[in-house]
Amino acid sequence: MTEGAVRLTRLDPTGPDRDALVDFLSSEEFPFHVRRRIGRADAVAAVDAGAYRDDEHDTFWLDHDEHGRVGIVRLEDLEDPVPLFDLRIAGAHRGRGLGTPALRAVTDHVFRTMPEVTRFEGQTREDNTAMRRVFVRAGWVKEAHYREGWPVEGGTAVASVGYGVLRRDWESGETTPVPWDDDVR
Ligand SMILES: CC(C)(COP(=O)(O)OP(=O)(O)OC[C@H]1O[C@@H](n2cnc3c(N)ncnc32)[C@H](O)[C@@H]1OP(=O)(O)O)[C@@H](O)C(=O)NCCC(=O)NCCS
Repeated sequence: MTEGAVRLTRLDPTGPDRDALVDFLSSEEFPFHVRRRIGRADAVAAVDAGAYRDDEHDTFWLDHDEHGRVGIVRLEDLEDPVPLFDLRIAGAHRGRGLGTPALRAVTDHVFRTMPEVTRFEGQTREDNTAMRRVFVRAGWVKEAHYREGWPVEGGTAVASVGYGVLRRDWESGETTPVPWDDDVR
């Protein structure tokens, strides 16, 4: 298990960081994403089209004290009051306990630099156990379990699990539970 701080370094996807970002996206495998592998041409097209930095998106390297550059995070839906994220740690650095400090650093970044954001959301496949543990350990709360909500190419759909964190919980260190009792009578 590795502990240690993870820092966010804003990357310039169409400037100096373009090649390294394309290399990262097209050389890694992402078994729990809708697209497991991204071809180089597709990665170039997406990066050049602004998918990693435009009005709705911004992207950061995840830099670790000891291990150096361990992955990326892309913030999404930045024009909405509730942003989302996509976290991708490089294969060589997975399973070492970096996910939780990475998500904490991402959460801190969003609440510190975006004063209008009062909640932050993320989703993952139900079988992405590592990511689900990371959400819980970073203090996020499960808010939804969309049964068969995640289509799988050539297979049976799995559930999509939604988590969220409130600014006021982030500030206070408390956890506001979801009122699951459907007490509407
Ligand atoms: C998901 C991800 C961020 C998790 O970060 P990580 O640093 O690899 O995870 P950790 O090492 O902190 O592991 C978290 C827990 O999951 C467990 N775990 C790790 N990999 C696992 C796997 N493949 N299957 C089941 N459990 C796993 C770990 O054992 C750990 O639990 P434990 O501490 O009780 O033993 C990282 O693996 C990743 O980037 N994967 C590819 C992209 C992805 O799926 N991103 C999520 C998109 S929302």
